[in-house]
Amino acid sequence: MLSGKKCDRYILIGIVAIFSACHTKDRIPDKITFTEHIAPVLYSNCTICHRHGGNAHFALVTYADARAYASSIAYVVSQHLMPPWPADPSYTHFVGERLLSEHDIQLIQSWVKQGAQQGPTDRLPTLPAYPVGSTIGTPDMRIPVQPYFLKANSSDRFLLIKVPYELPHDTFAAVIEFMPGRHNVVHHVNGDMVKYQFDKKTNVFTGENVADMVEDTTILQAYRRMGLPNDDGSYPVLQKSVVNYLPGVFAQRYPDGIGGFMLPRKGAFLLNDLHYGYTSGNDVWDSSYINIFFTRFPPDRPVQEFQLGTLGIAPVEPELVIQPNTTKHVTSRFTVPTDISILTVNPHMHLLGKAFKAYALKPDKDTIRLIYIPRWDFNWQYFYTYRKMVKIPSGSTIVAEGDYDNTTNNPQNPFHPPQLVRERNGSMKATDEMFQFIVTYLPYKDGDENISLETHK
Ligand code: HEC
Repeated sequence: MLSGKKCDRYILIGIVAIFSACHTKDRIPDKITFTEHIAPVLYSNCTICHRHGGNAHFALVTYADARAYASSIAYVVSQHLMPPWPADPSYTHFVGERLLSEHDIQLIQSWVKQGAQQGPTDRLPTLPAYPVGSTIGTPDMRIPVQPYFLKANSSDRFLLIKVPYELPHDTFAAVIEFMPGRHNVVHHVNGDMVKYQFDKKTNVFTGENVADMVEDTTILQAYRRMGLPNDDGSYPVLQKSVVNYLPGVFAQRYPDGIGGFMLPRKGAFLLNDLHYGYTSGNDVWDSSYINIFFTRFPPDRPVQEFQLGTLGIAPVEPELVIQPNTTKHVTSRFTVPTDISILTVNPHMHLLGKAFKAYALKPDKDTIRLIYIPRWDFNWQYFYTYRKMVKIPSGSTIVAEGDYDNTTNNPQNPFHPPQLVRERNGSMKATDEMFQFIVTYLPYKDGDENISLETHK
């Protein structure tokens, strides 16, 4: 509707469209240079990942960097592949949305067409300051994950890793953040916390730290070998899902009193399925770690979680079995029994995924939009945080819909020719499929929908 216009930001209030950002500064200048026009765009939208220490393997900081990638930059921004933000912003908005304006996309196209000129060097803006070794700041404590060696060209590994710690006393944490050592080999992490009663465990550091979940025996045997039980053989409390990581995910700090954790004096993080993949080329050591940000606020409203679909509280319908050379549409539905306030959502599919949509149908039949991903991208599966919590009234049905493409039209199809692909006991292997919609929430309290989740970095 707005294509060809120079201003692209608009807000729809009822039927009235208010156009903003149409000022003269938004006109495309005649002569475009890196230092004057392109660096400001890259520094606000790209260098958070494309810098030394960022999660992309190359930097876009200097003129030489940008020039070397000029045509590739022009291509990825015109195709809306970069910055990576698969969620449709005309459906719902989230914290930390990464989108380039049409104006900035045009600017980059024209710069490249004009020969990617440098411009006056004294006009180069300063690169923003980024936190080191964290996505959000300086942690109060850093706990190393046992380094792991990956041989070149080895197959995917799914590891159970124990990360034990001891503190001087019980402590509240606002954020627990997993930081991968090697972004290109660490795919995802879902971590729980083992909470020991002080007098029931003498030494949290005994036992092995790593178990391979493909080669290994049963989970209980693994737990015992890792020394997880109390001294008397009983099991300590396990708090699920306290630390999660997926590529491009930035840690989220909630307002005081929301979320947060109580870390007992003696404990361990249990990284359930640290997934290592794609080690083509070289042997590597991965040294990941966990950052803890303390707070003086007790976790009065701990974040809760449920998931629809594979391994979740509501089944995938019809069954997730995708015949070769076919496409498939599935849904999963769950009716919430009480009022809840949604904080984040995380859609999850593998390589055959094409599109994902989720919404809630209220008892009065109104629809609450949750998320729409028109072009599924396996590489970017964020936990999307709402700008304000979304209230879902009791009796509403949350519906998640997924589309899969198991034909040769899908360039991500892992099989040529296509083969039958199915859900397999929640197998995480990218060649098996999954359909999940993970929701983190709080029991609803009056006024939740007015609390901003944006300003609490
Ligand atoms: C959330 C992190 C993130 C942001 C933000 C981001 N990128 Fe990327 N980009 C990546 C990653 C990761 C890759 C994949 C390559 C790799 O493994 O490093 C990539 C790949 C690319 C590629 C190479 C594509 C190819 O053909 O291999 C280009 C060019 C690129 N990005 C440009 C940009 C530009 C321009 C921006 C800003 C407008 C941007 N990126 C923003 C993380 C990011």
